[in-house]
Amino acid sequence: MSRLIQITIPSEAAGKRLSVYLAEAGYPLTADCGGRGTCGKCRVTVLSGSFAADPNGTTAVMPNSEGQILACHAWCGHQQAVILLPVSEGQGLTIDTTGSTVVDISSCGVALDIGTTTLAAALVSLESGAILRTVSRLNPQKSFGADVMSRIGAVMANESNLPIMQTLLLDAVRLMIYELTNGKAVSRMTVAGNPTMLHLFCGISPVGMGAYPFTPAFTHAKTLTGAELDLPVGTVTLLPSISAFIGGDITAGMLAQEITDHDEPVLLVDMGTNGEMILYTGQNHGSKLYGTSTAAGPALEGAGISTGVGGISGAVCGVKFNGLSTQTKTIDNQPPIGICGSGLIDLIAVLLQRGLIDETGYLEEDPFPYAEDLTLTGGDIRAFQLAKSALRAGMEVLCETAGISPHELSRIYIAGGLGYYMDINSAVAVGLLPDCPRQHMISVGNTSLTGATMALCDPSLIERAACDAALCEIVELNLSPSFNDKFMEYMMFPYGDD
Ligand code: FES
Repeated sequence: MSRLIQITIPSEAAGKRLSVYLAEAGYPLTADCGGRGTCGKCRVTVLSGSFAADPNGTTAVMPNSEGQILACHAWCGHQQAVILLPVSEGQGLTIDTTGSTVVDISSCGVALDIGTTTLAAALVSLESGAILRTVSRLNPQKSFGADVMSRIGAVMANESNLPIMQTLLLDAVRLMIYELTNGKAVSRMTVAGNPTMLHLFCGISPVGMGAYPFTPAFTHAKTLTGAELDLPVGTVTLLPSISAFIGGDITAGMLAQEITDHDEPVLLVDMGTNGEMILYTGQNHGSKLYGTSTAAGPALEGAGISTGVGGISGAVCGVKFNGLSTQTKTIDNQPPIGICGSGLIDLIAVLLQRGLIDETGYLEEDPFPYAEDLTLTGGDIRAFQLAKSALRAGMEVLCETAGISPHELSRIYIAGGLGYYMDINSAVAVGLLPDCPRQHMISVGNTSLTGATMALCDPSLIERAACDAALCEIVELNLSPSFNDKFMEYMMFPYGDD
């Protein structure tokens, strides 16, 4: 649920961008546009005081008729100010301690998955491999944009954003470790994440990945001491990446699903903001590995959708039509506050089923009310089409490059939080997934964290991940002759006999 809190901005913040000050103070705002002033998601209400429209404080920001300003385009002044800002419950720490409560921390380690949107960590027994506790929280860097390109862009625009983003991330990770270990140090930690997140975690500039030829500063597995990062762990090992946009999160996923042990072709798709995917042809078909990534954008995580929210309490996560009426389901059965990725896929599938959207995505009733005070717009459908088409076209090009039809895949593993809630039939109905036998499509959850956990308990798996990464042929979608055609094709929704 969203609520408003009152924050006093002290005079010491003078000259700081308001969104940066709030992020550093522990109140990162959503900033889907990366601070370009176009998404409107960083709005705060000014109760007293004023803000400037530039760092020098020469012009004042004029609040709108509701007293709101954009925090990304406001600089703090020398006078104290008071603002109201929305925070969601999902912003806080979630802790699952359903496992053992009597824990010998000295025999434990921590596995961490750094997602662009969400951080997840687990306290793991190094002896048994059991996950004893998990915590998650939103990535506090979200105030620098919803996707990796916005985060890289923030460092390109101003180098001083790099240490700020690193500090935000490390502060959050330190808190998570503290929650997991009750303040005790552990011997080791493994970290999986996309290459941009891994660079920012280490404080290494990601700007080489911001433009062609998209060169990461490192892709190899990296081991640091906890002291170097001021974290209460002995050593910190980052899983290897494959390229600028195929990261340690997918090499961890390959470990989790033991991808290269399969005899027949398998596909692993991580449906995050950046859709990463790996195809293994199978031991019976040449044992080849292909990998690619596609900029799906954050629409499937609820961002960039007018009433979109993450997977938080009250998010519409399921929509069904029984031929007569439409039922919606929300997370925790709370009153609906917006729609998350799985709800969006379901809703669009239902609208297609009811003939309220045509194959081009044209929405007859725009905006369409799907819950009390909540609507879906034609623009939302367009954002969804772009995301699903990027993912689907990426899968198709990967299969084409490997010389395999999607129907020959013995497994399609769908990783990422979305997979847990996503209805596979709806995903097929909207064209996000190919129409393969349903028993071949399996939601496997956060394989990045699972792989990091496995590598924590068995460090030899880091070497295996590095070998897999070295063998993987990178498929550059922007160089693929068929990607554009497939992208246009999958912008359309399946219709009739498609
Ligand atoms: S308007 Fe998008 S972050 Fe401020």
